[in-house]
Amino acid sequence: MALPDLAIVILAAGKGTRLKSSLAKVLHRAGGRTLVEHVVRACQRLKPRAMIALVGHQAADVSAILKPLGVQIILQEPQRGTGHAVLVARRALGSRVKYAMVLPGDAPLVRSETLAELARLHQQHAAAATILSAELAQPAGYGRIVRRQDGNVEAIVEDAALTDDQRSINEINSSIYAFTLDKLWPALARLRPVNAHRELYLTDAIGFLRAGGGTVQALVAADADEVLGCNTRADLAEVDLAFRRRKRAELMAAGVSMLMPESILIDPDVTVGPDTLVEPGVQLLGKSRIGAGCTIRTGSILSDVIVEDGALVKPYSVISSSYLSAETQVGPFAHLRDSARLLKGARVGNFVEVKKSVLGERAKAMHLTYLGDARIGSETNVGAGTITCNYDGVNKNPTTIGRRVFVGSDTALVAPVKVGDRAYIAAGSTITENIPSDALAIARGRQVNKPGWAAARRRETAAAAKRKPGRKPKRKSSASARPHSRARSARVSRGKAAAAAKRARKSSRPR
Ligand code: UD1
Ligand code: CA
Repeated sequence: MALPDLAIVILAAGKGTRLKSSLAKVLHRAGGRTLVEHVVRACQRLKPRAMIALVGHQAADVSAILKPLGVQIILQEPQRGTGHAVLVARRALGSRVKYAMVLPGDAPLVRSETLAELARLHQQHAAAATILSAELAQPAGYGRIVRRQDGNVEAIVEDAALTDDQRSINEINSSIYAFTLDKLWPALARLRPVNAHRELYLTDAIGFLRAGGGTVQALVAADADEVLGCNTRADLAEVDLAFRRRKRAELMAAGVSMLMPESILIDPDVTVGPDTLVEPGVQLLGKSRIGAGCTIRTGSILSDVIVEDGALVKPYSVISSSYLSAETQVGPFAHLRDSARLLKGARVGNFVEVKKSVLGERAKAMHLTYLGDARIGSETNVGAGTITCNYDGVNKNPTTIGRRVFVGSDTALVAPVKVGDRAYIAAGSTITENIPSDALAIARGRQVNKPGWAAARRRETAAAAKRKPGRKPKRKSSASARPHSRARSARVSRGKAAAAAKRARKSSRPR
């Protein structure tokens, strides 16, 4: 659908007082994008001749979002109302187009199909104005469409100006309109700031167009959600819900299974393949791409993650800016970030953090591990509690581990360091030097057993306590409650025990 006779005018200059925010209204987010971005995207699909946005509050920030989307920016300063905004756009519209579609920047749910239908209807009937309206169960706050006996649109009356009779009208003005410009300009010239806000209301133009004999019609949106505006935080939450619902419905229609779908949050650019199961409380964010036949279990949060077919993400895993190849497994409670890459069949278990590291095919790190700036070869097993000491206080240093390496539990790898293929690292080692292929590395204190040391120490303690005046050990009534007989304790003199303990302590130091 290409509409060369049509320009789009987006009203995005308002502050959004009712949000009670320091952020301009159209920069608030719902459904994973700023409000105004949603509106622009819906319009882009119409391929209009031009897209113009009126900006005012936080003009620089709003423009920064709109310019890259190909929108021409016009400053409306000060903001004197929706009618004033369109007047300010007049110069930019010039005479290059016959029609303009006006949209508020705060009604982000509208679909391009609906806009195309609005344009088609407008042109077909050579109307002066075509309003997109909707029937709402709770119309309070919106302008109402007032129709004559014969059903023709007569005027739009703002909520604050409704008569008691009009208050029960539930057909509302979405603030989305198609106008024929040579008819609109004379009507806008008649606007006066005669209302509670002392503004020029675009809605008043409808009455003038009608009075001037122009055709004014309204297209009632089939899906009332499409016209919801975001004036308050509650509106924002509702609109966000509607977007999320829409996205989930799309994915389910394309073959994705969801449990308790209302609890699942998926951003608009996310793709998910068929036969993937998404469990309750999952968030799929940013530009994540999930393959087919995957399972994303409860509570996991994936942001800008590519997941290939058949991967399993177990509960409560947090993964960002990372890549999971086919048949990989992650979690529960894993944290993968900053280009963690798991190649085919690799597995990462509970309480494992992986940062800027690659795990080769079928490599495993199953428990309590930190891998940062590391390359792990295929089929290597990283034991529980392994840590790459990648940061020396100034720089991040790499750790390279070959294929089929066995990294014993509680190994510290002080980077930069390299471990050759098929090497073994003894548990508890602190590795500071490279390990050749096929070697065993042991880097830890040698163990010494001191027979009887512990028993001697217990006797020493008991004897010392007995000697201390006024701090006699409490005598229990039963003899069996005392581990040593008095006679036995007496045999070991205090001095003897102390000497034994001292010797034992000395010789147990690492050598
Ligand atoms: C407007 C309509 C109301 C309709 C409702 C639908 C008017 C007078 N009322 O009310 O009939 O039911 O939308 O959501 O038009 N803006 C500017 N410049 C301005 C004033 C506003 O760019 O000087 C922008 C705002 O940023 C916003 C849009 O226009 O994006 C609509 O303004 P808003 O104040 O939200 O109008 P509503 O009170 O919602
Ligand atoms: Ca509004």
